[in-house]
Parts: sequence; structure tokens; C-alpha cells
Amino acid sequence: MTENALAAAPPAGRISAEAGRRRTFAVISHPDAGKSTLTEALALHARAITEAGAVHGKAGRRSTVSDWMDMEKARGISITSTALQFPYRECVINLLDTPGHADFSEDTYRVLTAVDCAVMLIDAAKGLEPQTLKLFQVCKHRGIPIITVINKWDRPGRHALELIDEIQSRIGLRPTPLTWPVGIAGDFKGVLDRRTGGFIRFTRTAGGATAAPEEHIAAADAFAAAGVDWETAVEESELLSMDGSDYDRSTFLGGESTPTLFTSAALNFGVNQLLDVLAELAPAPSGAASVDGALREVESPFSAFVFKVQAGMDSSHRDRIAYARVVSGTFERGDVLTHAATGKPFVTKYAQSVFGQQRATLDTAWPGDVIGLANAAALRPGDTLYVDVPVQYPPIPSFSPEHFAVARGADPSKHKQFRRGIEQLEQEGVVQVLRSDRRGEQAPVLAAVGPMQFEVATHRMATEIGAPISLESLPYQVARVVDPADAEFMNRQVSAEVLTRTDGVMLVLFSTPWRLEGFQRDNPDVKLGSLVAAEG
Ligand code: G4P
Repeated sequence: MTENALAAAPPAGRISAEAGRRRTFAVISHPDAGKSTLTEALALHARAITEAGAVHGKAGRRSTVSDWMDMEKARGISITSTALQFPYRECVINLLDTPGHADFSEDTYRVLTAVDCAVMLIDAAKGLEPQTLKLFQVCKHRGIPIITVINKWDRPGRHALELIDEIQSRIGLRPTPLTWPVGIAGDFKGVLDRRTGGFIRFTRTAGGATAAPEEHIAAADAFAAAGVDWETAVEESELLSMDGSDYDRSTFLGGESTPTLFTSAALNFGVNQLLDVLAELAPAPSGAASVDGALREVESPFSAFVFKVQAGMDSSHRDRIAYARVVSGTFERGDVLTHAATGKPFVTKYAQSVFGQQRATLDTAWPGDVIGLANAAALRPGDTLYVDVPVQYPPIPSFSPEHFAVARGADPSKHKQFRRGIEQLEQEGVVQVLRSDRRGEQAPVLAAVGPMQFEVATHRMATEIGAPISLESLPYQVARVVDPADAEFMNRQVSAEVLTRTDGVMLVLFSTPWRLEGFQRDNPDVKLGSLVAAEG
């Protein structure tokens, strides 16, 4: 540590204490399950905002792919992943947004590399849906503990026990309900708190705009308050206990069981219970392993890794914000960090925190917090930043693309800019780039997990790089890793094509998941590897 850093160092134990208060998580859900509504409700109950609607403007949520760029400019802030920070009880909650809807992209997955816990939000009428499953796969792969929230209980939906069974049987995660609904879906009176045995009764407020009052009623008085619905809830809760579905810390942290809650985010029912569970049970930051496997403890000097780069927000001065998650130490605005990839200093005069659509200057950050670094042209997703003691965190994995398109320069005289631009977008993680001898250097294949990434690439190639491109979509939906020895054989298959990623990994693309399945059935000897989240 330098002398200056020593003089400014926080007292021993302060970093661990601050890290211990942090709860850094993301909500994983399918569009329309209620993520934005729940986010509002959490902030409302934690008193970070006074009225629902302040975080995500409704208009923003309804945006279509085409007006995204203009919206970004108009607001000057990302409508994709932002971090929301608010205090709750003795904790500091960091809620990282995972973009859904049309803006679903590789960034959505990358956010999950920066959290300590995920809330899996499920619509009570629909159960597990495709996007939730994809995001769940990433959590499972990374061993991220999951809290499950079954939402929209105020509306007619499926039976609670049936939903629990579905989670257990389809994804092998054992739900351990902490609350159990009193009243069937559509007739939500409150919840049985399975940890205390008491009844928490909820009361509606007009339009759900303010925090819903709740009343804690002892078990002995609950029947008088809720009648037969209470009896049913108690019976079902006992069934769950007999089935071994009670909360268990080690299986929760091990990613095998999931504490489960029932809510109506729209009515603000059950939201306090979720905040309490986050505060009491969700894991705090605990350092991270570096590429060489050594653990960087939270008390070590500052280190962070970039999990998202937001670029092209303002094409006039090519503003670029890198979002970094603090792993260890403390951050003060103005600190000079070292960029591990280049060894160059990075000045942080313009560090920012983000609250919904607003940005504010950030002065201090602790492990678990997210810092937004402006003027971050050199930073890429996965990059490490540190102070004093060098460290390098493992790269963020590439996620399995599901959309593919050939890119061609619209103006042949700009082939140099074209090549450089594609290279730059790839390095920044905007799209993955695949090539083959057959297609040639002039026609690389762009690969993405969401079509929004193509919009961003096309926009930036035209406006920022000055080499407009045309995209021709390819009829592939699935990618698998293939051994180079099998490449020729694979290329002879109908509806399959082999391409090579810039890191040398060979991928085979199939037109549909059924084609892939059929191929694997007919050729059990050919080994195909999965990419992260490919199984979705
Ligand atoms: P998302 O971010 O996951 O896509 O979902 P969002 O919060 O936008 O919610 C999708 C729709 O579901 C919204 O209805 C929202 O009001 C509704 N919703 C969310 N939570 C609940 C809940 O607990 N109960 C009920 N009944 N509805 C819920 P909308 O009709 O699209 O918009 P709005 O006019 O209601 O705002």
C-alpha cells in the first residue's frame, strides 16, 4: 500500500463490516412477471422512494427496439442494466437490473456475474417460463443462491403446491417456503410466516401506490381473522414440513434449495417479507477468486471487475460508462486504479452511482457496490481494476448465442474501418464474432443472445465508426462447441455450419434445437460441448 493510501485507509474491520451489510442481487424473470413492479415496491418499502413509478418510467418499460437508442440519448442514462442502491434496516441493498423485453442481451447474463444472490420471480398463473429458465441456468452454473418469489397472488392462478412441485421437478431446485399464502390465488388475505407460525394480514391501499399496511396476528388468533383459509394454510405448511421443505441455510447457499415467498408486487403485499429475507438470509459479499485461484478477501486493497460497458449513449462525445462491481477494499472517487489488462492507470474523477434513471456522483463504495466509471474507453467486460496489490479476475464467460447474422460493409472503400469496427465491438462484448474460410474475412458472422445486440452494433458501426453495415440473418438458433477434428464432418450435415470464434473456439450452429437433438441421437460418438446458458 502506498503511504497516501495508508493514511486514508479505513480502520481495521470497517471494510468487513460494510461488506457484511451489503446485499447485492438481481431479479431473474420472464417479461411481464412483474420485475419492474417489484423493483418499485422494494424501493418503496425501503423508503428509497415515496411513490411507485419513480424508478422505471412506465414509458420506458414499454419501449420497442427501434426507439431504444433515442430514448437512451434523451434520458442520458441507460435503460438497460442499472444498479439501484438503497438502505434497508442495517443493510445496504444493491439491486442490479437484468434487462428483459426487447433489450434482452448478453448484458442480461453478464449482470449475473456481479451478484451474490438472485431473486427468481414467477407469475403465479404461468409458473416457470423460458427466459426465467435461461437466467436460472446461468445462476446454477455460477452457484448463485436463489430466493424464489411467486408473484401476482392477488389474481387467479395455479395452486401453490402445484407451483412448488413444478420448480422442484423441472429445475431440481427444492423450494423451502418461508411464507405460505392465506387464501388461494385471486383471494390473497395474507401469509403464514412459517418461521414464527404467525399470520401476517395485508391491507390494500389505493392503486398500490404506497406501502401496504400489514398486521401481525398470533397463530392463536389467526383462525378468527382468516377462518378456513388459515386452517388450509396451516395444513399445507405442515405437509411441506413433513416433506422436508423447511428452510435450510447450507442447501440455500449451495444452490440446492430456494427460500420461497408469495407476493403481490402490484398491491405491495409480501414485499417487506422479501426485504427481510434479503437482509437476514441473503449472503453478503465474500471476496472472489482470482485467475490463479487465490481468494481476494474483502479486507484486501481495492479491486473490482467490469461486468458491463454502456457505450454510444451520446455519440457527440462518445461517452462510455463501465459498470464495475467492487470485490475488495474501499473506493473513493478520485482514486487512481490500475487497469490489470494494460497495467495503465485509470483516473476515477467521474465515478457515478446510478439510481433508476438518475445518475449521481459517487464518493465512496464498498465490496458489493457498483461503480459507474465514465470515460471508460479502455475498459471491457471482465476487466479487473485494482489498487496497490495486483489481481486479475477470471474473464466473464461467453454465453450461448441464439441469433446469427452475416455483417457486410455497405461501402467497400471503407473495409479497413469495417474490420476495425467489428473488432472493437467484439472486444467491448457488444456481439460475438464468428468466422470461417468459406465465408471469408469480409463477411463475419455476428452472434448474439438477443437481437437488440444487432441493433446496437448496426447503430454504432454507422454513427460512431463510420462504416455502415448491412446484416443478413442466418437461419440458426443453437450453438455448441465442437472439436476441430469433427469440424469437416459437421459441415457436411444438413442445417449445420461450423464457425470459429476469435478466441479459437469452434462452434457448430444448428437451425433448431430439434436438429441438434436429432444429430446427437444419430451420432452419439460426436461430442458437442455446451456454452453457458445454452440449455435454456
Ligand atoms: P416486467 O417488468 O417483469 O416485465 O413486469 P411489469 O412489472 O411491467 O408487470 C407486468 C404487468 O403485470 C403490469 O400490468 C403490472 O401491473 C402487472 N403486475 C405486476 N405485478 C403484479 C401483481 O402482483 N398482481 C397483478 N395483478 N398484476 C401485477 P400491465 O397491465 O402491463 O400494466 P399496468 O397498466 O398494470 O401498469
